[in-house]
Amino acid sequence: MQKITQPLTIFLIGVTGDLSKKKILKAIYKLYEKNLVSEPFTLVGNARAELDRSAFQEFVKHIVKPNSQETWEKFSNCLYYVSGDASKIETFDKISAQHSELEKDHHCGNHMWYIATLPQLYLDIVKNLKELRLHQTQCGWTKVLIEKPFGTDLASAQILNQELTTAFEEDQIYRIDHFLGKETVQNLLAFRFANGLFEHLWSNKYIDHIQVTFGETFGIAGREQFYDATGATRDVVQNHLLQMIAVTLMEEPKSLHSEDIRDSRSRLLDQLSCMKKEGLEKVVRFGQYTEGEVYTEKVKGYTQEHESLLTSKTETAVALKLKVENERWKDVPIYVRAGKRFAQDVLEISVQFKNPNNVMFKEVTLGVDPNVLTFRFQPNEGIILNLFVKKPGHGMELDEVPMSFCYHNQYQMDFIEAYERLIHDASMSDSTLFPKADGIEATWRIIDDILEFKKETDPEKYPAGKWGPESFNELIEKDGRKWLEPNMAACTV
Ligand code: BG6
Repeated sequence: MQKITQPLTIFLIGVTGDLSKKKILKAIYKLYEKNLVSEPFTLVGNARAELDRSAFQEFVKHIVKPNSQETWEKFSNCLYYVSGDASKIETFDKISAQHSELEKDHHCGNHMWYIATLPQLYLDIVKNLKELRLHQTQCGWTKVLIEKPFGTDLASAQILNQELTTAFEEDQIYRIDHFLGKETVQNLLAFRFANGLFEHLWSNKYIDHIQVTFGETFGIAGREQFYDATGATRDVVQNHLLQMIAVTLMEEPKSLHSEDIRDSRSRLLDQLSCMKKEGLEKVVRFGQYTEGEVYTEKVKGYTQEHESLLTSKTETAVALKLKVENERWKDVPIYVRAGKRFAQDVLEISVQFKNPNNVMFKEVTLGVDPNVLTFRFQPNEGIILNLFVKKPGHGMELDEVPMSFCYHNQYQMDFIEAYERLIHDASMSDSTLFPKADGIEATWRIIDDILEFKKETDPEKYPAGKWGPESFNELIEKDGRKWLEPNMAACTV
């Protein structure tokens, strides 16, 4: 990875929030530790909490858990904090005043505004930046990184896009969907377009359907305010899963150039929709976990997680059937299921090939799953292809075996964390892994209908530790198909 050579200041708005704690601060520290940012480097954190500089330094230290005291001391000297409500212009006045002081001593350089606070504040923050003319700097670039969810529906996403583009040029804006930064998701591009072998099979001629499973065993503890206003559909489907589907099914980009790749993703998203013709009640299901057991541990139900959730109707799981309106994917359904407190932590996309139509093995293969190609994004990352082989012995008996490529067996190295990559890419002005505005608007067009339908539908209860309510099975089984059980043994390290 190339070093970010000019002086850089990152303004992290929402620095005490869940995302900053879980991912962003660690990623920034990793870049610093790897010596990928030049001195002078400055990180200005903002949140509502009243903290003085040393308390903020302690807070960050507790999160990044530094290995080297020497590196930590240097990094710690780069940290500053400004408290205040980010929706108020006075807060940005304070940030700007303090930073101007700093730039007097240091060199003036590039500015990255990283907005990772509550989504309902985004619009005010962008207005504040514009009003105070913080969207540009005298002696370097200014960029804005903006976290998902980008809006809460199509109308709000459009307003946010409008506001952003009146303040910033498009090439200053980086809309984050960190799933696109995952190593395994990026590999989809290589797998699909570097191996001509599969590209020929990538259509309705050979593929029966696609399945996407995103299970998380943890609940929402500590994120109730955000999660209850968001729900599973907005939290992970509208962004992460639809973007991944786009990479899996999009047409080959004209080149590896960032704009071509982003255009291909957006075009596919534009052709993606819910199978509305069947009636949304037939193709969309919502679930909410009740108490249950996850990996032998007894856990609370969603409404018991916090007093504010007692009567909540927010969905913690969702299952959908989608389609792509183009010739290549005509009649190939895409089944998606995602949820909290599911049976397993797993993120995978499986491509189920059609049954072979040959005469020879027709009888023996009947009733057995045909070939499935599974992209396992996490954990035990890899690609698994299920094949039939002849079972050794006298007769002609077929056996189904996995053929797998497992990252951690092949490469004895750690992945670069998605956030580390994305912050680095944005600094280097590489926008390949950032969704475009039109792509995001396309995803809201799909999701708006579903959310409208959600208003009149209570989620069905499912005990924690299951793959959602029974009706998630019915969604796929009525089409004569079934959810594939993730093969967790494959690629175990
Ligand atoms: C976030 C969602 O965007 O992605 C979370 O808000 C979800 O609910 C998370 O748990 C999953 O990301 P990762 O990278 O930890 O799998």
